[in-house]
Amino acid sequence: MSAPTLDRPTDEAALQQRFDATIAADRRIEPRDWMPDGYRKTLVRQIAQHAHSEIIGMQPEGDWLLAAPSLRRKAILLAKVQDEAGHGMYLYSAAETLGADRADLTDKLIEQKQKYSSIFNYPTLTYADVGVIGWLVDGAAICNQVPLCRSSYGPYARAMIRICKEESFHQRQGYELLMTMMGGTEEQRAMVQDAVDRWWWPSLMMFGPPDDDSPNSAQSMAWGIKRHSNDELRQRYVDMSVPQAQFLGVTLPDPDLHWDEETGHWRFGPIDWAEFKQVVSGNGPANAERIRRRRAARDDNAWVTEAATAYARKHAGAVTEGAA
Ligand code: 3HC
Repeated sequence: MSAPTLDRPTDEAALQQRFDATIAADRRIEPRDWMPDGYRKTLVRQIAQHAHSEIIGMQPEGDWLLAAPSLRRKAILLAKVQDEAGHGMYLYSAAETLGADRADLTDKLIEQKQKYSSIFNYPTLTYADVGVIGWLVDGAAICNQVPLCRSSYGPYARAMIRICKEESFHQRQGYELLMTMMGGTEEQRAMVQDAVDRWWWPSLMMFGPPDDDSPNSAQSMAWGIKRHSNDELRQRYVDMSVPQAQFLGVTLPDPDLHWDEETGHWRFGPIDWAEFKQVVSGNGPANAERIRRRRAARDDNAWVTEAATAYARKHAGAVTEGAA
């Protein structure tokens, strides 16, 4: 009797059925499990974009490491920027469990064949930007990423649990910095307001295009990769941020922002989707600089990668020999 093979159509149908049942029961898909090609591709796309965002996201704040106003602020910022590197590493590891190659993903980022978050293409002009990135950008990241802790792909969901805990610290350090500045001089308060004016709209864009212009949402939600639509999360974020802005004493730069008694939501004005498209297609204020630096980091540090790879190979060889 011949051994069963997995490439027979009937086997494929059974595997698909088992996959569908796992998703329907809200259990996790693991790397060893069969999965449809589209599911794997969507995950690699989203996880890679997410990992790239963490790594590129180190740049705007990293710019302030040497100019932090005190040792305490420097230590906090350094810890935060290092956390972002760690997030990138967990996420690249999650992508590797799907068969992706980390170096290949990095090349695709540098060749601009894969995206990273639009938000990191804006410059950080003053130290208040560090606080506002913590409050608004990390706040948006938390809002978007907490539901990903229940994502249907196990390694991604588990990576997100730790990432979200650290993002929570990031948001608090930002808000604490802003509270301190708002209790300072008139000039410091003006710096905070100016940073809020520049970052508010780009942070709303982080959630992605509106639902009726989001080609991936429906399928990603059916697969349990995403748990909520882009617009749902954006609204949740606005509802969360308005009271925080009021407590802080800043004005959000939206003349249409108002409380809607009937729905119990803060309603906001139109988002400039033309700007979003420009930034995502590589024409934002800092896209070229972000990619130039990422390319330089890859090329200048190639010797470290080569040495680490050679060491890992040698070590793996020694382990195999020992086992023999
Ligand atoms: N910036 C850049 N590209 C974006 C984007 C954004 N803000 N929002 C959407 N896009 C891209 C999508 O990747 C997709 O591109 P593709 O089909 O060519 O690959 C296209 O625009 C259409 O958007 P969709 O809504 O159909 O795409 P998704 O279903 O993937 O939803 C998403 C987009 C909500 C960002 C989703 O991918 C997601 O939740 N990703 C995980 C979280 C993430 O990547 N966050 C990035 C920020 S990381 C961060 O904030 C770090 C922290 O330290 C601050």
